[in-house]
Amino acid sequence: MKFKILITGAAGFIGSNLCEYFVGKGHDVLGLDNLATGHMSNIEPLQEKDNFSFLKGDIRDLDTCHKAVSGRDYVLHQAALGSVPRSIKDPVTSNDVNVGGFLNMLVACKDAGVKKMVYAASSSTYGDSKSMPKVEEVIGKPLSPYAITKYVNELYADVFYKTYGLNTIGLRYFNVFGRKQDPNGAYAAVIPLFTKQLMNKQSPTINGDGTYSRDFTYIDNVIQANEKAMLADHPEAVNTVFNVAYGDRTDLNMLIDLLKQSLSKHDKTILDVDTIYGPLRAGDVPHSLASIDKAKRLLGYQPQFNLKAGLDEAVEWYWSNL
Ligand SMILES: NC(=O)c1ccc[n+]([C@@H]2O[C@H](COP(=O)([O-])OP(=O)(O)OC[C@H]3O[C@@H](n4cnc5c(N)ncnc54)[C@H](O)[C@@H]3O)[C@@H](O)[C@H]2O)c1
Repeated sequence: MKFKILITGAAGFIGSNLCEYFVGKGHDVLGLDNLATGHMSNIEPLQEKDNFSFLKGDIRDLDTCHKAVSGRDYVLHQAALGSVPRSIKDPVTSNDVNVGGFLNMLVACKDAGVKKMVYAASSSTYGDSKSMPKVEEVIGKPLSPYAITKYVNELYADVFYKTYGLNTIGLRYFNVFGRKQDPNGAYAAVIPLFTKQLMNKQSPTINGDGTYSRDFTYIDNVIQANEKAMLADHPEAVNTVFNVAYGDRTDLNMLIDLLKQSLSKHDKTILDVDTIYGPLRAGDVPHSLASIDKAKRLLGYQPQFNLKAGLDEAVEWYWSNL
């Protein structure tokens, strides 16, 4: 069955990968983005497809949200300002986009009667909780303005179900990486940043001693989770949140080793690049590891790419695209 899908944040890393996937499956996809952090080059090849269209617009504008959502079966909402440090530097703009824009999207989805809005939640919602692995029901206090915005999304989504009957699913992404993730700018994520630095034989800088660990999640696992969430109709699976991760954790020292190994297939001298160690960053949690049992049980989620397999693919993409 073919659906009409709106993907917000369509020019960004995750949004553009979702666009590519769902266009490839023959669905009618509309992408919305204001290009704050996304790039048109991410969706350039899709522009010539009959089943893809793009609307340049801002989710902070309710009329734009209404226009984008009109006539859509499903909404995959990815648009937001990511990055903990960005939100520490400018909490007002992060809040405007991530909370105000999110609320606009909920209102537009409710008014248009969409079947479901699947939205990008975040592992940052676990905040200062020490429990490991992270299970959806046990969260701590947020450690950054960004984390607050993502938690508020979950609260609003819950209230929109209870008050207006709008169906939503929140996907708490854990450190997603892969093709098209931006390696540039002050707020680049570690994997694209380190990859680019190592490719240029520059020393990557780790904040701290490299023992902080993350549940790094390859983009194809995230695409799978979005599709399963979009199509889920089991009552227990809807109007709730799920961890989207691989379910394993790797520290930053090991991450750099794996990246070097992968890149050394192209240039052996990359193995000799040193690592620099700097101060810890405010708002960073020491360790992050997801339980993915709930997504497995209720969505049938089965991540296909572990960190090594994902890194090998991502490195090939960066090698031929940077
Ligand atoms: N990448 C991760 O590891 C990760 C982890 C947890 C959650 N998330 C969430 O996943 C979503 C996608 O993240 P990403 O990594 O692809 O980031 P990204 O920055 O590559 O993509 C976000 C997109 O949203 C767009 N956008 C920003 N403000 C907008 C606005 N006001 N109106 C319309 N579009 C706007 C940007 O231009 C960009 O294209 C975000 O909601 C983010 O918070 C990402």
